[in-house]
Amino acid sequence: MSLTAVVPGSFDPLTLGHLDVVRRASKIFDTVHVLVVTNPDKKSMLDIATRERLTAAAIADAGLQNRVLVRNWESGLLVDYCKKIGASVLVKGVRSQTDVAYEVPMVLMNRSLADIETVFLLPNPAYSMVSSSLVRQVHALGGDVREYVPESVLQYLQRVRAADQ
Ligand code: PNS
Repeated sequence: MSLTAVVPGSFDPLTLGHLDVVRRASKIFDTVHVLVVTNPDKKSMLDIATRERLTAAAIADAGLQNRVLVRNWESGLLVDYCKKIGASVLVKGVRSQTDVAYEVPMVLMNRSLADIETVFLLPNPAYSMVSSSLVRQVHALGGDVREYVPESVLQYLQRVRAADQ
């Protein structure tokens, strides 16, 4: 039986922590869809097409493109995307108990809505303080984020900064 998993997120932008979780998921599942969505609770720095493009470039640069597809979803519930592609598992990266507590209601809601299970994967602890929101903040305040994001994201952020100056 072939197992497909979906790794959803805003990826605004993709971080090395996200990439680490996707790499781990690709070792467990036959196919992984990294699904770029818009979180209505957050104001995005990057539009969804840019987030998808930078994420796809990072997946290719990491050599993961054979098992990992990058897609976007703006047509409703996450579980509807899972049903559309025949995935029965969501993968979420969790860095801490705070992340787990944030995820638990969504896990239960997605299970209630469509019998979709969620698997938690822990990234390398080297990335435990890395989040998209902190990357956005450090970058916006002029800091160097090269230790926290893949090359595709770093180059994009540097290009935008240079164009703004
Ligand atoms: O990277 P983020 O912003 O923490 O990702 C949050 C995300 C996209 C996983 C969350 O916003 C989400 O699950 N959105 C899908 C909307 C949905 O289906 N909601 C109802 C069930 S929880």
